[in-house]
Amino acid sequence: MYLVFDTHQEASQFVAQRMLQRIIAQPDICLGLATGSTMEPIYQALIQLINQSQPALSQVTTFNLDEYVGLGKSHPQSYYYYMCHHFFSHVSIPEAQINLPNGKAKDLAAECERYTQVLNQTQGTDYQLLGVGTNGHIGFNEPGTPFDSLTHVVELTAQTRLDNSRFFDDPAEMPYQAITMGIQDIMQATEIDLVITGEHKAEVVRNFYHSAVNENLPVSVLKQHPQVTVVLDKAAASLLPHEAVQKGLVTQ
Ligand code: GLP
Repeated sequence: MYLVFDTHQEASQFVAQRMLQRIIAQPDICLGLATGSTMEPIYQALIQLINQSQPALSQVTTFNLDEYVGLGKSHPQSYYYYMCHHFFSHVSIPEAQINLPNGKAKDLAAECERYTQVLNQTQGTDYQLLGVGTNGHIGFNEPGTPFDSLTHVVELTAQTRLDNSRFFDDPAEMPYQAITMGIQDIMQATEIDLVITGEHKAEVVRNFYHSAVNENLPVSVLKQHPQVTVVLDKAAASLLPHEAVQKGLVTQ
């Protein structure tokens, strides 16, 4: 199902509300979390909702999708830092239940194995918050990644390095590698909200809509998942065909 909202803010409010409902309905929920600018207003809205309704968080577990290789917890561009800054430091999820790959691990292969094992103990997430890169990557699974991949180290593409270097004061600091949950790990989620906003993502939304499932467009794998909601703002939905809206495939 595709849902289109007028603004990024409205889409974020909708997703945050859903996340809150899921947490209330299942206090021991395992949440798959994502980073990136798309997610910032979602976490902001979720923090507000949590403050208002005070759901129990003591049994919530979280797994983040990915982390840059070489960036430690205190590096402002590490995803650990992002998550603390935008979400974890504002809510009371026990630290021991927060999982991110360790981008500073000496043995990266062992770290990937460890992450896969911990994730498997929970048999995947109950709810996965997911974004997409302009080249169709999910997590950091770049085009060509096998759909049966587990947590692994990736070489970031030139496109991804270009897109994400905007966050770094010195673009040369942008890492070349990351650890990411694999596509199989992501697909194990019971439910997935794919959130895509902004005009710069309109093309990847169009490609996703028209494309057959194929490894060159990693996000296309989601068409095989039984419970995915694609949450868009108008700008990201701007290249979707009118007949999709008319047929009710795309609604607001
Ligand atoms: C990074 C993350 C992805 C995220 C993407 C989009 O590459 N690894 O998980 O979906 O950024 O980020 P943004 O929301 O900033 O466009």
